[in-house]
Amino acid sequence: MRGIAFWFYFTGVIYVIAGMAFGIHLSATHDYTLAPVHAHLNLIGWVTMGLFGLYYHAVPAAADGILAKIHFGVATVGLWLITPGIAFAI
Ligand code: HEM
Repeated sequence: MRGIAFWFYFTGVIYVIAGMAFGIHLSATHDYTLAPVHAHLNLIGWVTMGLFGLYYHAVPAAADGILAKIHFGVATVGLWLITPGIAFAI
């Protein structure tokens, strides 16, 4: 795996480590108020970013253009906005 596929998958692994650590924190404190933050960090950060990475790995032609880089940037900024956004909304 290389290029944009690698970056989607690699950052997904970072997000799932953070998301699982946050899930352990929820359990350890018995305070589940921010469970939706944990859920979305894992589901968007790990599942969605990981799937994008697998797609670009399977279809290398799609990974070559500028659109794939814009996709990565928009997806990353979106995740970084929605995660604290859910916490603030709660
Ligand atoms: C070490 C790994 C993980 C731990 C310790 C963990 C822990 C938790 C805890 C404590 C809750 C709250 C349960 C409750 O409200 O009764 C939760 C909810 C949830 N988790 Fe995880 N989790 C882990 C991994 C994951 C992963 C990998 C995903 C998705 C890919 C995920 C998705 C969810 C979802 C969708 C919810 C429901 C959130 C809600 O009710 O608002 N979790 N998890």
